[in-house]
Amino acid sequence: MEVVESAGQMQEIARDIKRRGLSIGLAPTMGYLHQGHLSLVQRARSECDQVVMSIFVNPLQFGPQEDFTAYPRDPERDLALAREEGVDFVFAPTGATMYPEGFSTHVEVGGVLTEKMCARLRPGHFRGVTTVVMKLFQIARPDRAYFGQKDAQQALVIRKMATDLNLPVEIVTCPIVREADGLALSSRNAYLSPSEREAALALPRSLDAGRELILQGERRAERVQSAILEALTNPAIRVDYVDACDGQTLADMAEIQGPVLLAAAVWVGSTRLIDNIYLEVRP
Ligand code: PAJ
Repeated sequence: MEVVESAGQMQEIARDIKRRGLSIGLAPTMGYLHQGHLSLVQRARSECDQVVMSIFVNPLQFGPQEDFTAYPRDPERDLALAREEGVDFVFAPTGATMYPEGFSTHVEVGGVLTEKMCARLRPGHFRGVTTVVMKLFQIARPDRAYFGQKDAQQALVIRKMATDLNLPVEIVTCPIVREADGLALSSRNAYLSPSEREAALALPRSLDAGRELILQGERRAERVQSAILEALTNPAIRVDYVDACDGQTLADMAEIQGPVLLAAAVWVGSTRLIDNIYLEVRP
């Protein structure tokens, strides 16, 4: 496994791989790796000749009041895990490499996808994500790029960018990896105290309650949202949003049918957690 810090060198490596007729799979991450990240690498490993993992805590996608500086980092452990998973190249640039003095170009997906849910509380967040991902695509030249369903809105926004801009990359969305008790793995789980960790379980359980209701025949989105909200009633939890919407466009739907996303974001203490369930609902 080779660790590459220079964008130019990574591009050169990618060009060489392509010249040899081999395919490249890219798993973009912000490090502090867990099994969720590693599941993307495993999928890439099984589908591509060469696997590139990027590790970069992207300042552009953090708001001024957010946890960019405090975001957990453990580069040595990350490299050991990447090596164990058979990653060929880790692209780990510095901030100055990605955003040198005078950097002023951004990629922004417009419309519903970047107006609701996580975009509401985090203005500019998705613009930061699409800008860095576009750069990573230009640098690592992947044939396929792997993203987690954990960040469902992010995956849809990136897919839209790839479609709208005719990017020659296949966007692959991988299932959410969870702890045995149901909590979705997240680097931010490291912030939770033991009692907050316990309270956080209400998040996946609330979405399960929403799914149950749909399976029992409820089709009114409002009712499903209310059930999720009710299951989040807990003094240790503050709800940011709950949504039951179109699973592909994120458009509001009065009556649930077709691809549906049940999604929620909550604060547990000072930690913000997100989770979702995607399901296909027949009329
Ligand atoms: P990060 O939060 O490090 O996540 C990297 C990738 O791992 C994302 O595609 C995310 O959806 C996926 N992931 C995280 N937790 C997961 C879980 N429990 N199960 C499955 N996949 C999971 O998302 C980002 O970084 C950044 O926004 C990035 C795309 C790298 C751009 O900076």
